[in-house]
This record gives sequence, C-alpha cells and structure tokens, in this order.
Amino acid sequence: MMTISLIWGVVIVLCCCLWLILGMRRRQMGEPPLENGLVPYLGCALQFGANPLEFLRANQKKHGHIFTCKLMGNYVHFITNPLSYQKVLCHGKYFDWKKFHFTTSAKAFGHRSIDPSDGNTTENINKTFIKTLQGDALNSLSEVMMENLQLVMKLLVVSKSKMPVWVTEGMYSFCYRVMFEAGYLTLFGRDLSGQDAQKTLILSNLDNFKQFDKIFPALVAGLPIHVFKTAHHAREKLAEGLKNQNLGKRYHISELIRFMNDTLYTLDDMEKAKSHLALLWASLANTIPATFWSLFQMIRSPEAMKAAMEEVNLTLKNAGQEISSEHSPICLNPVQLNDMPVLDSIIKESLRLSSASLNIRTAKEDFTLHLQEGSFNIRKDDIIALYPQLMHLDPEIYPDPLAFKYDRYLDEDGKTKTNFYRNGIKLKYYYMPFGSGATMCPGRLFAVHEIKQFLILMLTCFELELVESHVKCPPLDQSRAGLGILPPLNDVEFKYKFKHL
Ligand code: HEM
Repeated sequence: MMTISLIWGVVIVLCCCLWLILGMRRRQMGEPPLENGLVPYLGCALQFGANPLEFLRANQKKHGHIFTCKLMGNYVHFITNPLSYQKVLCHGKYFDWKKFHFTTSAKAFGHRSIDPSDGNTTENINKTFIKTLQGDALNSLSEVMMENLQLVMKLLVVSKSKMPVWVTEGMYSFCYRVMFEAGYLTLFGRDLSGQDAQKTLILSNLDNFKQFDKIFPALVAGLPIHVFKTAHHAREKLAEGLKNQNLGKRYHISELIRFMNDTLYTLDDMEKAKSHLALLWASLANTIPATFWSLFQMIRSPEAMKAAMEEVNLTLKNAGQEISSEHSPICLNPVQLNDMPVLDSIIKESLRLSSASLNIRTAKEDFTLHLQEGSFNIRKDDIIALYPQLMHLDPEIYPDPLAFKYDRYLDEDGKTKTNFYRNGIKLKYYYMPFGSGATMCPGRLFAVHEIKQFLILMLTCFELELVESHVKCPPLDQSRAGLGILPPLNDVEFKYKFKHL
C-alpha cells in the first residue's frame, strides 16, 4: 500500500515538474505581465473565483492596467482602465465575439451548437434578437409585460384579500415570483387551459428554474450537469414544457420565441426547447435581482421614494391615467416610460452597485492591441476581458462609490447625466451592466422597461414598508460573479398593503 502511494506521489511530482518545464506559458517580448498561478490547468481560478474584485485590484496594483491570468486553461488578458475600453472595442476585427457565448450556452442548456460556423443554422441569431427585442417589437413586448405584471398583481389581491391587511414577505422572493410569472407569460404566452392550470404550471416551472439557476455558475465553470441530479432533472422538466407540442397549447407567444423557432429549424424539438430555455434564463436571471435591488434601494431611501413617487404621479397624470379601486389597468407607452429620469437613475444606481459581469472576446489571430497605456501582443485563442465592476466602484469616477445616491445619474436640471470623468477625461464608457460592443445585451431596453413598470405598479398599488426600517444592505452573492447582477446573500423582510381594496 505504502509503495503504491509512494509511486503515485512521485508520478504527481514528476507531472508537476514537467508542466512547469514544458507546459507553463512564458511571457514573450511585448506581451502583458503574466500570472500563471500555481495549479496546473486551473491557474489563478481559485483566487479569482474567491473574490474577483479583490483579485483584479491586487493584480492591477502589482502590474498596472493590463495583465494576463491563466484561468481554467485559458489565458485571459484583463483590461482595467476604462479610458482604454473604447480602444479595445476598436479592435473588433480581431475578435470572435460569440465563440465563448455559443460554447457556454450549449454546455449549460444542453442544445447543439447554434454557432452559424458549425452549420446548424445559417441565420444571424443576433439579428433575430435585435428584430424581436428592440424597435416596434419592444413596444408590444413592453405592453404585454405591463398587462402580465398587473394580472399577477391582481391575483395577489384576490388571493390575499381575506388575509390581514398588511402582508409580510421576503422582498427577494416576492420580486422573484412576480417577475418570473409575468416574464414567463410574456415570452411564452398564456395557457389555453385556463388560469388555475396556468398558475400550477408556472409555480412548478418557478421551482425548477430556481433549482437549475442555483448550479449555473458551476456549469459555466465547466462541470457537467450530470453531477447535479436535481438540477439536471429540473432543466429537463423546464425544457419539456417548452417543446412545440406544449407551446401549441399557448396563445400570444412572443415574436422572440416564434422567430427563434424558425431560425433554428435544423434543431430537433427538444434542442429547440433547450434554446428557448436559454432565452428564458437570459431574460430573467439578471432581471430578477436587478428588480430586487431597485425596489430595495428605493424603499430604503426616503428621498428616492419621494422623488420616484412624484415622477410616477406626474407621468400618470400627463398620460391621463387614473389609479382607482376598479383596478383599471395602467398603460404607459415607451415614450412615456423612457421619459422618467428619476426611475432611470434609481435603476442605474442599483445596477451599478450590484453588477459583476465579465465581458469576453476571443482573439481570432495573433495581433497587437493598441491601448492608452501602450501596445501589447496578443496570441490567437487568448481571451480579452473587461470587468466593469472595477470601474463602477472607482472613487474617481463615482465619489463615495459604495453609497446609494438615487440622483447620481441626474444633472442639475433633473435630466439624465452623462458626464463622468477619469483623470479629467470624459468617459465614453462609465456604465456597463449590459456589456459592450457586438455582444451587448439585446434585451437591455426591455429590461429597463420591465423594472420601471414593476416599480410604477408597486408605488401606485401598494403601501410599502421595510419590516426593520434601518435594515443593513445584504451582501452580494459573489459565487455568481462574472454572470451579471449579483443576488443578495440573504432576503429582506418587507410589508405591503393594497391601497385600493
Ligand atoms: C437587468 C437585466 C439584464 C442584464 C443586467 C443583462 C445583462 C446582459 C449581459 C452582461 C449580457 C452579455 C453581454 C456581453 O457578453 O457583452 C447579456 C446578453 C444577453 N441578454 Fe441580457 N441582461 C438583462 C436582461 C435581459 C432581458 C430582459 C433579455 C431578453 C428578453 C435579455 C437577453 C439577452 C440575450 C439574448 C443575450 C445574449 C446576446 C448574444 O449573445 O448575442 N437580457 N445580457
């Protein structure tokens, strides 16, 4: 037994030495400073995963604004100076914007590659996203979302009307439930079999979505879904509900889903369903925590509440809309929704404080990256990464960066502020929770509409209070860093009461 262990020990040591001699990349002339990390293959992944912000700040201090880290077998060049972001985007012809996204989506959701270069589709999927999430399509999508939000909230009135007037609930689970239900109905339409069947189906989908989403960071990190039995089962159940035969029992399905069905005509029914699931995830996984943070930060700040209430009342008055006990639906068009700078600022500030996305592009060939701080040689297949949280929390751009200031994005005239500076230079990129360049979130306009609609309805339909008026801001769940808006680590209790019962 001892001998076998000894042999294994010697083999492992030899492999490590071999890796150090042969496998470890060495920095070459003109390349950024390199951190290989100590563990073969993983490189610096453990330190990065434990706290990306601290890890990147430490390396920025050590190496300056650009450095390379080995992460899970990839060499990732981090660009940390926001003044250089624009220059990075100018090198678009050297980047494969989609490779990482397509591979990750196929791995996490279990569909075949939808990369046109793999031959399963000839369509430009990004064009489909833009066509069905922006322009005229956005108007009808937002209109349907507002109807669905009111339907979900009206059901709350009906089901809770026999209960005590004030209802106490975790704010995150409230936002999760309402946004999931309304978002699902908006994308996949309503069930022909009636409201009760629909409610049961959605609640079961909600549970499955939570199970699956919990392990999402592990899937992105490369673990196979088979390791997680419950989550695997949940993913298959969710996808089953999105197969064509089940979608056929629904009406008012969004253009996004109908167009995707046509675009991915070479995929079989289950694979199409899995790509629909990917869209469900993209539309909710960030929107739900973003909605929570916007509501939480607004309720916690009396000035924010007052300013938001005034803006909502004025908007409704100008639109000739009245809030009454008859529950007549509120309907605001995109122009009216877009003209709400206070809500815009509250949402932006909430996202600035909670977003931790990683913007990634892969180098298609060897090339030289020309930046503010010099020129750097990049090798084919390396990754260029921006981590905008570093900029969102930079005290030079955002003084007192950890404080929530509801009017941070308002100028002296109460209009949207766009002047933010670093080193005295005006920044083009100062707010990036939705990414940048060719992979920028195509659903960003819809996302802001939905959150605004949710806040408008919460302010007009309910009296709202935190159970503990000076509750501490919950910490961010760092295990999801890199994926977008981080959820809170713990929920916050709040009370709501219908104003018009
Ligand atoms: C607050 C809410 C949201 C945030 C913070 C957010 C953020 C992001 C980010 C950071 C990306 C990747 C961008 C990149 O890699 O550069 C992305 C991609 C995407 N988002 Fe969003 N998103 C939100 C809501 C939505 C909604 C509501 C939809 C659709 C209904 C949506 C659809 C998509 C799609 C389809 C992609 C993939 C785009 C592609 O690969 O071409 N997102 N989102």
